[in-house]
Amino acid sequence: MTYPAPVDLPTKDLFRLDVSGGAGGVGTTVGKAILEIGGDVVFADMPPSPNPDTWKTIEDIAAASGTKAWYHQLNVTDADSIPQVFNTIREEIRFPLRGLVACAGISGECDACDYPAEVFRKIVDVNLTGTFLVTQAVAKEMHASKVTGSMVLIASMSGWVTNRGINTAPYNASKSAIHQLARSLAAEWGHPQNVFPGRTPGDANPNLEEERKAYPPIRVNTISPGHIATPIAGAAIQRGLVDQWKKQNMLGRISQPEEFRAPVLFLLAEGSSYMTGADLRVDGGHCAW
Ligand SMILES: NC(=O)c1ccc[n+]([C@@H]2O[C@H](COP(=O)([O-])OP(=O)(O)OC[C@H]3O[C@@H](n4cnc5c(N)ncnc54)[C@H](O)[C@@H]3O)[C@@H](O)[C@H]2O)c1
Repeated sequence: MTYPAPVDLPTKDLFRLDVSGGAGGVGTTVGKAILEIGGDVVFADMPPSPNPDTWKTIEDIAAASGTKAWYHQLNVTDADSIPQVFNTIREEIRFPLRGLVACAGISGECDACDYPAEVFRKIVDVNLTGTFLVTQAVAKEMHASKVTGSMVLIASMSGWVTNRGINTAPYNASKSAIHQLARSLAAEWGHPQNVFPGRTPGDANPNLEEERKAYPPIRVNTISPGHIATPIAGAAIQRGLVDQWKKQNMLGRISQPEEFRAPVLFLLAEGSSYMTGADLRVDGGHCAW
C-alpha cells in the first residue's frame, strides 16, 4: 500500500509548521515568509521570550495575512522538556502540525588538535541530536493527527565541503550527519509501514511484536546553505573572511536569509510532493567549483 499523491489538498493548508531556532536569522525570516503565505507558525528558540521588535513585526505580518504565530522557549537538546513544550503547542494551534523547519544550530572555531571534547560534544548535541529530537517530537504529532508532513532540516554546504580559512571540524561533521539523518528519517517515515512490498512488518522489524502502524507519509529533506550574513557567521565576518568567501562562489557574494524563503517554502509545500531524502544546495555555486 502506498499513500496517494496529495493532488486535492488546498494550497492554504500546505504550511502549518514549527520553526525551531526560530529567533535566529534564518528561522525568523522563513517563519515570516510562511505566515505571509498563509501558514500558522510556532517559533521555538532558547530565549524565554522573543525580541520585542522582531515579535511585533511577526504579529503584524500574521494579522495582515490572517495567520497566527506563537513563541515557545525550547532547548532542542533537552529531551525531557521537548514533550512538555509540544503538549502546550498542541493545545493552542488551530491546525495539526504539517511541517517543520529545523534551524537551530551553533558553530565554533578551534584547531582540531586543541578542540575541547566538551565543546565538540556540545556542537554535535545541538546540531545533530537536537535536530533529531525535534523531528522525533514533530513526527509523533503528525502521526497522532494522521496527517502528511514535510520536514526541512537546515544543514550546510559544510556538510559537503570543508570551510576554507576557518577550523570548524565538529560543525562540519554535524552537518554531514544531518544529511544522513534526513535520508534515514525519510526512509522510515515516507512509506506507511516502512517496509518494501513483499516483506512483512515483522520481517523488517524483528523487535516489534505487533504489526507497525501505518501513517501518512512524512517527507524529510535538507537545505545546504552557503555562507549567510547572520549572527552565526558574525566572528568570521568581523575577521574579514567574508571577502575571501565572496571569491569562492560563482555569484561573488554571500547570501542573505531572505534567499532561503523560496527553497524552504518549496520543500514544505506539496509542489515538492515527490521529493524526500534529498538535499537542496543553495550556495551560490560554492560547491560546484
Ligand atoms: N549563517 C551561515 O552562514 C550558515 C550557513 C550554512 C548553514 N547555516 C545553518 O543555518 C541554521 C540557522 O542559522 P542562522 O544563520 O540563522 O544562525 P543564528 O545564530 O542566527 O540562528 C541559530 C539559532 O539557533 C538557536 N539555538 C542554538 N542552540 C539552540 C538550542 N539548544 N535549542 C534551541 N535553539 C537553539 C539560536 O538561539 C539561534 O536563534 C543553522 O543550523 C546553521 O548551522 C548557517
